[in-house]
Amino acid sequence: MMRKAISSNEITPESVFLKRRQVLQAAMALGAGSLVGCSVDSAEADTPSAATTRALTSTGSTDFAGGENWTPEKLVTSYNNFYELGLDKGDPAKNADWLKTDGWTVEVGGACAKPGTFAVEDLVNFNALEERVYRLRCVEAWSMVVPWLGVPLGDMLKRFEPTSNAKYVRFDTVLDPDNLKGQRSSILQWPYTEGLRIDEAMHPLSFMAVGLYGKTLPAQNGAPLRLVMPWKYGYKSIKSIVKIEFVEEQPDTSWNLSAPHEYGFYSNVNPSVSHPRWSQARERRIDGNVLSAKIDTQMFNGYADEVASLYTGMDLSKSF
Ligand code: MTE
Repeated sequence: MMRKAISSNEITPESVFLKRRQVLQAAMALGAGSLVGCSVDSAEADTPSAATTRALTSTGSTDFAGGENWTPEKLVTSYNNFYELGLDKGDPAKNADWLKTDGWTVEVGGACAKPGTFAVEDLVNFNALEERVYRLRCVEAWSMVVPWLGVPLGDMLKRFEPTSNAKYVRFDTVLDPDNLKGQRSSILQWPYTEGLRIDEAMHPLSFMAVGLYGKTLPAQNGAPLRLVMPWKYGYKSIKSIVKIEFVEEQPDTSWNLSAPHEYGFYSNVNPSVSHPRWSQARERRIDGNVLSAKIDTQMFNGYADEVASLYTGMDLSKSF
């Protein structure tokens, strides 16, 4: 005889149920092998910086994720990689107040006609923000679907009038080891630095985000501005940018410097090129379902129609 199942919310206060569910969801999303970063403590962390976000409006919303469910906001803002704020997935939300964003400026320079130092509001027109729903695939084989707010990166960069010597763009995160205690560890070279080829940076899908879920970015997601590169592994989407430089040579990147055989410059999502320590063929979508199954990873994270032509003629197993 079948017993009537009692759902856990019938016997548990809702707040406890929700927290427990979140822990379970995060755990299921990760798969048993990679639970190290997901302690109960971290998944239960409140998001202190949430109080410091403010509402943003956008001119419209475009779904670039095929109508898939959005990852719940609470997971997007509490399950993070931001090593400056700690190594565990729950650390960035817990340590959000380490990131000081008052008076933030971004220095733009290198091979361009109009360099300068800009307040965020002078770089990004907050009256013309777009909402874009993108899939973002972490190199650790989990992924999220997030409604970002921001502007196309290319539109922003063109204003500085890059010259013909601008073959690449380099981005740096703020360096502040007094406050960002993660920068006292030697796990990466600081500041966190990333780079794109200029045609990648100018591609219409490349995005500079200042918000998510209709609000300014919380610290743990890279306040006040961060890249979103939807066809590349998540580590290319550098957070809390203070410097943008147009350069002639391919720039160093933090992850490539730390493990060149594991993390290449391009870092395009590619199910047929394994990470040396794990396959990239499948991923766990963090979609808020307790039992979300693993799904096949798509070439260029599903954006091949738009971006494959950037890499024509390249051997992507060598230029990984
Ligand atoms: N940017 C900085 N400065 N430091 C970081 O540790 N982690 C990267 C990327 N940007 C990281 C960073 C990695 S590995 C991923 S998967 C994404 O941020 C995660 O973005 P999210 O926390 O908003 O989901």
